[in-house]
Amino acid sequence: MSNSLFRKKSIATILKDAEDGLGDGHGAGLKKVLGVKDLTALGVAAVIGAGIFSSIGKASYDGGPGVIFLYIFTAIACGFAALCYAEFASTVPVAGSAYTYSYVAFGEIFAWIIGWDLLMEYAIGNIAVAISWSDYFTNLLDKAGMHMADWLTMDYATAHSGFEKVQALLAGGAGLTGMDPTDLSRYNAWLQAPVFMGLHLIIDLPALLIVALITYVVFVGIRESRTANNIMVGVKLAIIFVVIVVGAYYVNPDNWSPFTPTGFGGIMKGVSAVFFAYIGFDAISTTAEECKNPQRDLPRGMIYSLIICTVLYVALALVLTGMVHYTKLNVGDPLAMVFDARGLKVISGIVAGSAIIATAGVLLVFQLGQPRIWMSMSRDGLLPKIFSKIHPKYGTPSFSTILTGCVVAIPALFLNLDVVLALTSIGTLFAFVLVCGGVLVLQQQPQRPDSKFRVPYINGRYIYPLLLAASVVLTVFKAPDHFRFIFTHEGFPMAIFWVVALILGVYTFLRKFSLIPVLGLISCFYLMAQESHTNWLRFLIWLGIGLIVYFLYGYRKSKLNAPGNKMP
Ligand code: ALA
Repeated sequence: MSNSLFRKKSIATILKDAEDGLGDGHGAGLKKVLGVKDLTALGVAAVIGAGIFSSIGKASYDGGPGVIFLYIFTAIACGFAALCYAEFASTVPVAGSAYTYSYVAFGEIFAWIIGWDLLMEYAIGNIAVAISWSDYFTNLLDKAGMHMADWLTMDYATAHSGFEKVQALLAGGAGLTGMDPTDLSRYNAWLQAPVFMGLHLIIDLPALLIVALITYVVFVGIRESRTANNIMVGVKLAIIFVVIVVGAYYVNPDNWSPFTPTGFGGIMKGVSAVFFAYIGFDAISTTAEECKNPQRDLPRGMIYSLIICTVLYVALALVLTGMVHYTKLNVGDPLAMVFDARGLKVISGIVAGSAIIATAGVLLVFQLGQPRIWMSMSRDGLLPKIFSKIHPKYGTPSFSTILTGCVVAIPALFLNLDVVLALTSIGTLFAFVLVCGGVLVLQQQPQRPDSKFRVPYINGRYIYPLLLAASVVLTVFKAPDHFRFIFTHEGFPMAIFWVVALILGVYTFLRKFSLIPVLGLISCFYLMAQESHTNWLRFLIWLGIGLIVYFLYGYRKSKLNAPGNKMP
């Protein structure tokens, strides 16, 4: 019996547990049918969703056409992380993803933290996807001549900000006619909402309904089959292809000038939205037990899907910012809106219609993933047994599925898209940081576990410290205020970044760390540090609550506490 916070689960035990399925019907009964094409398709299915159908609008509005640099940089950071995920997935090919990997590399407390943190990627991420699904859905209803009351289609903060904006314009002498329709619907939502004890009752009803519907589908066990998934990916790729090809004809190059109107600061405002658009390639690692040859195919599937999405995103960002001026892109349904703006109503309708199918697909993947992560944690004793209870008829983790539905649907009624996007991004980036760090730990082990895919080793001993020194010099000369800023309370995430970067530099020099995981860790940490300090505070509070739950429950109930379980 071990009481250490860092007690680890050996790879052999994890593989054996997965093979036995621990009597819960999961694992042993799964069919190994997925090949590299299916995995790539699954990756694209999970990645392309709300991020590109909705939040690309706000990111382009903040950064102008230059937002493509952010797409490229984020793809590189994700690429490093993908290679690290791939090494883990081929070493420990079981469901559980980063949660399981952390159990192997760092020990139980980190595994718990990651499991808790993954709630942000899956459940909170799905709140964001549901909210943007609702944007496209209400837009489509409008096109069909069925207008839903505005106060039933958005969150309180959005309506309030729209109301204040319109009021300010009215006070400045503007008239309601000719105002931006998005602002007007927010203004109307505020004015028309029932008021209860002084509070305007404004909710996003379609977001709740789609989550309820998807939860029902997931609960009764209709899993996303390989064929259905491939068809869905086909729909997504087809719309994006239409938008890029047709849109390219309507590009006015004047809209690209200036290319970076809001500078570096404006571009970096889109970090959450852009990173959110890439989340999902890592989710295919949860299918490890269903792959024909996970060690070979998972790494390829992740990298291929990432490359496909990067090319599409950059092309799409160029087309959107070329078709209309970037200042018009702050809407929830930018892909449909750009065609509306050009009078191409039919294409706009097709895009809006297909977007609700494509986004619902992402919802399904993540709504399936969250209960399975809870199930893994419950199998390890870190969550109560009920979390891994399998429905006798439907063969799904019934309690976890319904709980996921509630955790996503209820907040989706009230929460603001920007807030949930930011939380999802910071939470997922943290998981990426730990997975990259985990590979460094694996590589330091004297008896490194067998794996068919290994991150190619490039000695980082001199390269990383040199890159770090160059960044410091560049910052001192190009942005001298930066180092003053990090000592303000708003700058604390960047201060943490520099401390981590320096410590990593020392270790990389002393231990000859492998360059790719080091770059993955630091570039994902850099993206994290770009998040606002309020987002960091919310994230840290979330992790703090997680630790309290762990000490009250998981630490005592862990399976590794059982007599006979020794640390490897
Ligand atoms: N990348 C996924 C999306 O954009 C989460 O919806």
